[in-house]
Amino acid sequence: MARRETSFICQNCGAAYSRWQGKCDACGEWNTITEESSAPPQSPGRAPRKGRLFALEPLAGAGHDAPRLASGLAEFDRVTGGGFVRGTVLLLGGDPGIGKSTLLIQVAAVLASRGHRAVYISGEEAVAQVRLRAERLGLSGAQVELAAETSVEDIVATLDEGETPRLVVIDSIQTMWTDLVEAAPGTVTQVRASAQALIRFAKRSGAAVILVGHVTKDGQIAGPRVVEHMVDAVLSFEGEGSHQFRILRAVKNRFGPTDEIGVFEMSGGGLREVANPSELFLSERHLGSSGTAVFAGIEGSRPVLVEIQALVAATSLGTPRRAVNGWDQNRLSMVLAVLESHCGVRLSGHDVYLNVAGGLRIQEPAADLAAAAALVSSLVDAPLPPDAVYFGEISLSGAVRPVVQTAARLKEAQKLGFARAILPETARPEATGEAGLSLKTVSSLASLVADIAGGPRDAGRRERKRFRQQDG
Ligand code: TYD
Ligand code: MG
Repeated sequence: MARRETSFICQNCGAAYSRWQGKCDACGEWNTITEESSAPPQSPGRAPRKGRLFALEPLAGAGHDAPRLASGLAEFDRVTGGGFVRGTVLLLGGDPGIGKSTLLIQVAAVLASRGHRAVYISGEEAVAQVRLRAERLGLSGAQVELAAETSVEDIVATLDEGETPRLVVIDSIQTMWTDLVEAAPGTVTQVRASAQALIRFAKRSGAAVILVGHVTKDGQIAGPRVVEHMVDAVLSFEGEGSHQFRILRAVKNRFGPTDEIGVFEMSGGGLREVANPSELFLSERHLGSSGTAVFAGIEGSRPVLVEIQALVAATSLGTPRRAVNGWDQNRLSMVLAVLESHCGVRLSGHDVYLNVAGGLRIQEPAADLAAAAALVSSLVDAPLPPDAVYFGEISLSGAVRPVVQTAARLKEAQKLGFARAILPETARPEATGEAGLSLKTVSSLASLVADIAGGPRDAGRRERKRFRQQDG
């Protein structure tokens, strides 16, 4: 008799062990290892299957563009790189309650309204619940086909009947199960096998499939993380519970860029696209407080202005706190070290908090200069001019280095009413474009620090008043 294979698999990273242990050696997580049994191995007596022959093709040949179907939601299409590609599978990850189901029912409804067959399979909610949400979104008239099912075999059999759908939403992959493996739904083995079956269906039928996956607190797509390498694109839907903003980001994309973001606003009537994110991210600015600087950033192909907020406060702790939200902790440590060693700014006796407004997560090193400006402004309690934007990368030597897309950053700043920019010296002055801003180039962080700390304390306040008057 074939022995049933049992193994212990980490639910976070998928590492397999022969016996149970409390901590996963591979990813370092505790209590994530559970017992799973896999399919019995082939009986030893049986001869191995003889392989089928297939034709090999030359690399040179008629290639064709991936046929795409635009979803109709511009922000969604921006992130996927132009819409759904036939026969591909996309994983949408995000915290529970962030709005994944809402986004996808909206996408499905838009596609259906353009005459494409769209199917929405919910493994979490009853059909009535999905209908109720659609009603709330004003989409009850949409021709989306609904079902509440969790058996992958049943789903694939049903979808194979009739016309192939252009879009199939599976909400969520953690609730799906297949007969092929014995493990319980939600386990790594089940999630992986169910995803495999759905991917096979997508490739065979040409339908685009979206798998929804919930994530854990640390931002990793747990369980479905083992699916990430199997799918064609991984999108993550992010946001802070207390904010309306939602950001859709491509983590991986075989058919498009991975640096674009889509910005949405969660409203009473569902997710609204935000065409001009800078306006949104700057809408909550407190003009005149020290410790804030506006960073002119680039997200994908689009400039985005966002406020960076810093608080530097004397500490009573032996080891001061360094807390950062929306930016890289290591990057903050580096900027603090450069401030200490090259600019004479002593921060070892201070707690440092840094926050990117609106729940945006910045990955560009170009934010260094804005972060440094906000930190110094907070430390010396000197507000920065409210009509200025900052960008530039800081090197370990304290030099301010040029960054890409200077002209686009300046143009966006001008569009939003800013009057000046603090930026690195660039090798090509023409890169600054026709900016109607007054430009102040800085070559070293030390000179910026001297400007902020050395300027009259109330200069910023005077400027602010002028800016407000212009605004109103
Ligand atoms: P949902 O799409 O169910 O999240 P997920 O599928 O990621 O778990 O979104 C649920 C949240 O969105 C819930 O807290 C209520 C809020 N919401 C709105 O604010 N407006 C709306 O129109 C809808 C449908 C939901
Ligand atoms: Mg949901």
